[in-house]
Amino acid sequence: MTTKPDLSIDGLIAELQALAQISEAEPPVVTRVVFSEADLRGRAYVKGLCTAAGLTIHEDAIGNTFARWEGTDPALAPIGTGSHIDAIPNAGLYDGCVGVLGGLEAIRVLKKLGFTPRRPIELVIFTSEEPTRFGIGCLGSRMMGSVLSPAQALALRDKEGRGLEELRGEAGFSGSLESVALAPGRFHRFVELHIEQGPLLEAEGIDVGLVTAIAAPASLRISIEGEGGHAGARLMPGRKDALAAASEIILALEAAAKGTGAIDTVATVGICEVFPGAVNSIPSRVRLETDIRDIDAARRDRVIGALHDACSEVGARRGVVITTELVNADPPAICDAGILDAMEEAAVSAGKTFKRMVSRAYHDSLFVARIAPVAMLFIPCRGGVSHRPDEYASPEAIGSGVHVLARTLAVLAS
Ligand code: GLV
Ligand code: MN
Ligand code: MN
Repeated sequence: MTTKPDLSIDGLIAELQALAQISEAEPPVVTRVVFSEADLRGRAYVKGLCTAAGLTIHEDAIGNTFARWEGTDPALAPIGTGSHIDAIPNAGLYDGCVGVLGGLEAIRVLKKLGFTPRRPIELVIFTSEEPTRFGIGCLGSRMMGSVLSPAQALALRDKEGRGLEELRGEAGFSGSLESVALAPGRFHRFVELHIEQGPLLEAEGIDVGLVTAIAAPASLRISIEGEGGHAGARLMPGRKDALAAASEIILALEAAAKGTGAIDTVATVGICEVFPGAVNSIPSRVRLETDIRDIDAARRDRVIGALHDACSEVGARRGVVITTELVNADPPAICDAGILDAMEEAAVSAGKTFKRMVSRAYHDSLFVARIAPVAMLFIPCRGGVSHRPDEYASPEAIGSGVHVLARTLAVLAS
């Protein structure tokens, strides 16, 4: 199989731009929360492109979408590729979408070149990779990989207290939640194209990253109950300020993550809700959401242990009640050596430079790994910036990713 080295991707870039216009925020800011009107319009746009490319669409009970290019041996398990199109608030246009529309472009290129796959190739658009709505990332792939049960999924609530059952129904998805889980072997192999979301490829001037492992993410909710009161009249001694307590916990978590001395340990408190949120009122209640990750799950768990210790110590010393809830603590995924070799060969024959690297961000592949061998292909993004409106990957970088992906799919599907 040969692909033209001068592969034009102008159409793909235009499609990425068009998808970015479908946003809950004013473009170029992209916000597409799962099951929002923008998410549904974005799905419709991408499904239209898939149909136009001759793919057959199937959607599961929560909207995971499979666009299939039939193989000459349809009984064989397909090669999967794809990613997500939902976007966190105030995001850019490349996270996830490059894997979906780039995966589609790889399929279109192979079709144009007259390639006939022996195995089917399926492009997957996963539902809710981002945790924005339900507080847990990779909802679609998690259920696909049986990591989240239907009962656990039904218990999820968004900020308005609305559950998955109501929201998926409103979005037009129905059927048994049990059917979302796929059996091991449902995919022969799965490859996800994604922007790096970190600075290494750009800094080192490398075309593509071959991802050998995906870090283990964990998330804990922390609730701190103190005592409110008048910010002027209540004196400092004996205060039970929930936000002051939260501040100590945030700093303790930062210290614990830095304290491992490992570059792969990261911890973030991305949500801090303060009640009642009035400038002249002592905070009586705070809710924190934390995100803790590492390639080494045991080391990550030691950071979680240090966070629990800090909660006990700060709670006792300040007389506030602190409770923690573990939202998720997932193991890392190790990528498949065979796919890595296929990607490396594809990069060499496409004349692209490459390096093997880990993914510190999580991705749907982390959960697809429960049912199939997976690997990921990274492309550089400017300054390593992601989850921001100024996220950017050059057409050349996207072209390299699509080129290597197309060659990899062709080898895996032959
Ligand atoms: C995915 O969006 C992540 O937060 O790693
Ligand atoms: Mn993301
Ligand atoms: Mn992503």
